[in-house]
Amino acid sequence: MTLLVTGGAGFIGSNFVMFMLRRYPEYRIVNLDKLTYAGNLENLTEIQGNLRHTFLQGDICDAQLVYEILERYHVDAIVNFAAESHVDRSILEAIEFVRTNVEGTGVLLEAAKRHRLKKFLQVSTDEVYGSLGPEGKFVESTPLHPNSPYASSKASADLLALAYHHTFGLPIMITRCSNNYGPYQFPEKLIPLMILNAMTDKPLPVYGDGGNIRDWIHVDDHCAAIDLVLHEGKDGETYNIGGNTELRNIDVVRRILKHLNKPESLIQFVEDRPGHDRRYAMDAGKMDRELGWTPRKPFDEGIVETVEWYRRNEEWWKRIVSGEYQQYYKMMYGERGMTSKE
Ligand code: NAD
Ligand code: DAU
Repeated sequence: MTLLVTGGAGFIGSNFVMFMLRRYPEYRIVNLDKLTYAGNLENLTEIQGNLRHTFLQGDICDAQLVYEILERYHVDAIVNFAAESHVDRSILEAIEFVRTNVEGTGVLLEAAKRHRLKKFLQVSTDEVYGSLGPEGKFVESTPLHPNSPYASSKASADLLALAYHHTFGLPIMITRCSNNYGPYQFPEKLIPLMILNAMTDKPLPVYGDGGNIRDWIHVDDHCAAIDLVLHEGKDGETYNIGGNTELRNIDVVRRILKHLNKPESLIQFVEDRPGHDRRYAMDAGKMDRELGWTPRKPFDEGIVETVEWYRRNEEWWKRIVSGEYQQYYKMMYGERGMTSKE
């Protein structure tokens, strides 16, 4: 089996590539990644020199390149992680989200159609369903109601993928997952950003009242779920994946501070994210009933391991925060009334 994994130098993609190479000693993985600010070859040092892994720097919007890769490497299946993934960045500048997330997915689907691919797994998100009130959970039949430019671009990609199944019989599956955390997550996202700020005694910027709720899942559980869907999922189906761990942002931040033995006075409430979704919660019952999957890693354990990973891997994150991240941080948080990171 040869898999084309796109976005495999990002957070979840790199974890997935390592997971699959460990689990299937006979699989080959071609990893296509543009290496945007979020792509990092250092995420893949563990598999450096592994002959079953081929890294190619390139853009999923490049139709000729994508088709050539499918042909040259005799690709059986695509798992599409490549995306612009950060909601706040999509609020600042949305066009790259439309390009990569919508057009890029369209290019992959078209190439898959020509190549007669065996499987196409589109990695999507719970954010396509919009925001919940205090009760209820998202199921696969919940109507799509994306609120941010990021979420809308992901919903558009999902609809395109489903249309390619309906119209051309392409063997498409969609997974929609809740908020991931774990090693190699870029420190623009809540958990790694708070860990790094707490470790370096910087203010922790909590948006609004800190009462927004996310359903947290360890990245290893997400990878295991994608593996299962890829091998046992049904064409044309969508699968919700969740961690069964709903937490208010402020409580996530407090846990990080507690583990690091840092004072809560580091918390700084700042201006809210425009259009901020209040609550996400996934009903992943279909994954359990049909494929026998449930999340395994308890958040209490996973968050401690994750904090410890960032403690041990200072070299990895120091290189990131010393680069263009500085400008991003000033732009994003300076305007929210935070003092600069320095
Ligand atoms: P990430 O931002 O860490 O990684 C994205 C990767 O895609 C990067 O390596 C980047 O270089 C690459 N990329 C971007 N544009 C590209 C292009 N045009 N061509 C090729 N490569 C390109 O993102 P992540 O958090 O690892 O998310 C991966 C996928 O999972 C995304 O599709 C995202 O929507 C989805 N997802 C993420 C979460 C989460 O909590 N992080 C939850 C559910 C779904
Ligand atoms: O739900 C799945 C989605 O989770 C994925 O599809 C996205 O790719 C991923 O980025 C993530 O989106 P969120 O917007 O939920 O994640 P983020 O880490 O940016 O924010 C989590 C919550 O924390 C959200 O309510 C906003 C809040 N937050 C975030 C940051 C970066 C803060 O309060 N302060 C911050 O500095």
